[in-house]
Amino acid sequence: MTLRACVKGVGHYLPERIVPNAEFEATLDTNDEWIRARSGIERRHFAAEGETTSNMAAAAARAALSDAGCEADQVDAIIIATSTPDLTFPSVATMVQAELGMHTGFAFDIQAVCAGFIYALSNANALILSGQAKRVLVIGAETFSRIMDWTDRSTCVLFGDGAGALLLEAQEGEGTAQDRGILSTDLNSDGRHKDLLYVDGGVSTGTTGHLRMQGNQVFRHAVEKLASTATTAMERAGVTPEDVDWIVPHQANIRIIQGTAKKLGLPMDQVVVTVQDHGNTSAASIPLALSVGRDRGQIKPGDLIVTEAIGGGLAWGAVVLRW
Ligand code: ACO
Repeated sequence: MTLRACVKGVGHYLPERIVPNAEFEATLDTNDEWIRARSGIERRHFAAEGETTSNMAAAAARAALSDAGCEADQVDAIIIATSTPDLTFPSVATMVQAELGMHTGFAFDIQAVCAGFIYALSNANALILSGQAKRVLVIGAETFSRIMDWTDRSTCVLFGDGAGALLLEAQEGEGTAQDRGILSTDLNSDGRHKDLLYVDGGVSTGTTGHLRMQGNQVFRHAVEKLASTATTAMERAGVTPEDVDWIVPHQANIRIIQGTAKKLGLPMDQVVVTVQDHGNTSAASIPLALSVGRDRGQIKPGDLIVTEAIGGGLAWGAVVLRW
């Protein structure tokens, strides 16, 4: 018997306000056609005034707990992937722990920008496999609208807000690729590329700062690194692209998503795509896509999923799991 971290429940939260591309035309030299053609984005959700990353994370967590039929006091740990915490500290995860009324266990944040959810899944898997936790809430939650420079058309049209959550539970498997749960993980980073994508604020400046990105440089790294990490994770899991039911990629740009699928030899009808409706929600994009993909009837129990992401750092990685 082999211990596996299995998906027990999934849920998401999107803020009420939907902003179509055309809304940027009033204040920026941009248009709907450019944004659609270059990124695949048509609209995104923005948090309301006063709405925070912890509010959205808690809403997604409640949805995942309800989906799983579990109570918060049955959870051992909360891991939140975010680069837009409410405050410098305490962690968003401890705020959510309090909001859920969970007074035991432990909670912490992980910061790997757009790859954050992959890092969080991988860490949750390690906690479960080492016996340190039986049930872990893994959440990606972001309010990137708070760190946009609204005068920079090359970044502010690309990002959105939201949250998604998975409840993982330790279950026994056979130790084969037919098992449900996380089958393999692969994490990478290369800090030499830290200047390609960063926020120009923080403790050293005393300001929150704004996102700065050399988009075309990030793009250049993305397809190759994403295909490479997905291939490594598949090899570790003992599966091939022919075995895969769904790619659930980080939703940054439809052209990166298409390029990666092509490199992996998988058709676009096996890719869960939400970038048109959510924009780039950074660490929230994969759990949002998993939740929406399940709700659409795309992802079904037993499906083999490859999920991959790249973001600031650069940091990138992939997880292979059976739903
Ligand atoms: N509207 C109209 N024109 C624009 C806009 C806009 N909103 N934004 C930029 N342009 C212009 C540029 O000024 C440039 O004009 P120029 O040629 O006169 O200088 C032209 O469009 C082309 O700009 P590029 O940056 O070369 O366009 P590109 O095709 O690379 O698309 C994009 C830009 C969408 C940002 C793309 O590079 C991309 O998606 N990159 C990857 C982003 C990403 O994946 N980030 C990682 C995750 S994010 C995270 O970790 C937080």
